[in-house]
Amino acid sequence: MTRHHSSIEAEGMSEKQLVNALNRALAWELRAIALYAHYSAYVSGIHRLHLTAHFNNEVNESVTHAATVRSAIVKLDGTAITERDDTPIVHTSNYKEMLTEAYETEKKAVETYRQILPLVEKIGDTELYDSLEVVYFDEQRSVEELRMMLKD
Ligand SMILES: [Fe+2]
Ligand SMILES: [Fe+2]
Repeated sequence: MTRHHSSIEAEGMSEKQLVNALNRALAWELRAIALYAHYSAYVSGIHRLHLTAHFNNEVNESVTHAATVRSAIVKLDGTAITERDDTPIVHTSNYKEMLTEAYETEKKAVETYRQILPLVEKIGDTELYDSLEVVYFDEQRSVEELRMMLKD
C-alpha cells in the first residue's frame, strides 16, 4: 500500500515538474513570437525583402510550437501561462544584430526542449513525446540555419 501510494506521489511530482518545464518553453515561444514580429517590422536595408518573410515564418512557427506546448499542458491538467519570458527583446533595425538575437533565442529554445524530453519519457506518454520531439528538431534546424546565415 505504502509503496503504491508513494509511486503515485512520485508520478504527481514529475508531472508537476514537466508542466513547469513546459510553461518555461511556452513563455519562450511567446517571447519568440514578439521578437520575430518586431524584427519583421523593423528590418531594413537590402536584406529586408527576404528577412521580412523569414521572420514572419518564424512568427508562424512559434505560434504552432506554442499551441503544441499549450495542448501538452492541457493534457497534463496543468495551467498554461499567458505571459512571455521577460528576457528583454533588443530593439534594432540592423539585420545582423537581429540574426544574432534570433540565434541566442533559438539556442535557448533547443536547451528548453532538451530538458523537457527526458521528463516526458519519464511519464511514458509516447504521443506527447513525439509531438514535442518534432518541436525540438524544428529548434535545432533553426539554430543551424541561423549559424549559416551569420557566416560571412
Ligand atoms: Fe519554437
Ligand atoms: Fe524557434
